[in-house]
Amino acid sequence: MRLLLSLITLTASLAWAEIPEKSFQPYTEGPKTRDGIGKYFMGREISQVMGHLGAGWLERSEREQEEKPSLLMKNLELAEDAVVADIGAGSGYFTFKLAEKVPKGKVIAVDIQQEMIDILKKRQKAFGVENLETLLSVEDDTKLPENEVDAVLLVDAYHEFSFPREMLASMYRALKPGGRIFLLEYRAEDPLVPIKPLHKMSQKQAKAEYAASGFRWVETRDFLPRQHFMIFEKPGAPEKKATPTKEKKADAPS
Ligand SMILES: C[S@@+](CC[C@H](N)C(=O)[O-])C[C@H]1O[C@@H](n2cnc3c(N)ncnc32)[C@H](O)[C@@H]1O
Repeated sequence: MRLLLSLITLTASLAWAEIPEKSFQPYTEGPKTRDGIGKYFMGREISQVMGHLGAGWLERSEREQEEKPSLLMKNLELAEDAVVADIGAGSGYFTFKLAEKVPKGKVIAVDIQQEMIDILKKRQKAFGVENLETLLSVEDDTKLPENEVDAVLLVDAYHEFSFPREMLASMYRALKPGGRIFLLEYRAEDPLVPIKPLHKMSQKQAKAEYAASGFRWVETRDFLPRQHFMIFEKPGAPEKKATPTKEKKADAPS
C-alpha cells in the first residue's frame, strides 16, 4: 500500500514538473480604465507607461518638498562599491544621486524608452559622471547580465511594467544572492496621496506579487510623505562570518 502511494505521488510530481512554464497564464484581461491597459496581474490593472514628455514632471523642483527624495537616498543602505540598477530610470532623477552614493561602484540606468536614455546620456555628459552605464531594455526583460547587481532601485516604475512577472524573473536573475530591491510606490491605502489610483500600489499587493516570484519581503519603512519604501531580497545571501568573541572562563570573576 505504501509503495503504491509513493508511486502515485512520484507520478503526480513528475507530471507537474513537465507542465511547461508557458502554460501558466498569470495575466487576465479586464475592463480598461482611463490610465490602465486593461491587462491585470494578480488582480491589479497595470498602468500605462509615462511617456518621455513627462520628463519635465519627473524633474520638477517641488519634488523635493512633496516626496523628500533626499530622505529616501539617506535611507538607502548601499556599500560605496555596490553595483546598483535603477530600473525605469526615466530622466535619471535618482540615477545621478545613486552615482554619488556608490563612488567606487556603478549605476546601471535601465529604461525601455530610447528618448529617456538619450536624456540620461546628455545629462551624464554635462555632469561628467563616470560610474554610470545606460541600458535600453525591453518590456519583459531588463537585459541585465546574471548575478551582476547588488541592488535594484524602482521608483514609481514597477506599476507600469506591462510584464511584471517576467520583469520580476529578470530582476531575480540579475541580482546576486542576498541582493535587494528597493521598491518605492505611492501608497494606495492613503486616499490623501494626490496621485491617480493606478499609479499607486498597496503594500499587500506588492508583497503578494514579489512573493509569487520568489522574493523575500524584508521590511516596509513608511517614513516618506507619499510612498511606501519596501525592501525585498533574493534569498541565498552568503552567511556572514561571526566575529569571534573572547571566551570567558567558567570560573573567571565577572
Ligand atoms: C514614472 S517614470 C519614473 C522615472 C524615475 N524612476 C523617477 O522616479 O524619476 C517610469 C519609467 O519607467 C519606465 N518603464 C516602464 N516600463 C518599463 C519596463 N518594463 N522596463 C524598464 N523601464 C520601464 C518608463 O519608460 C518610465 O521612464
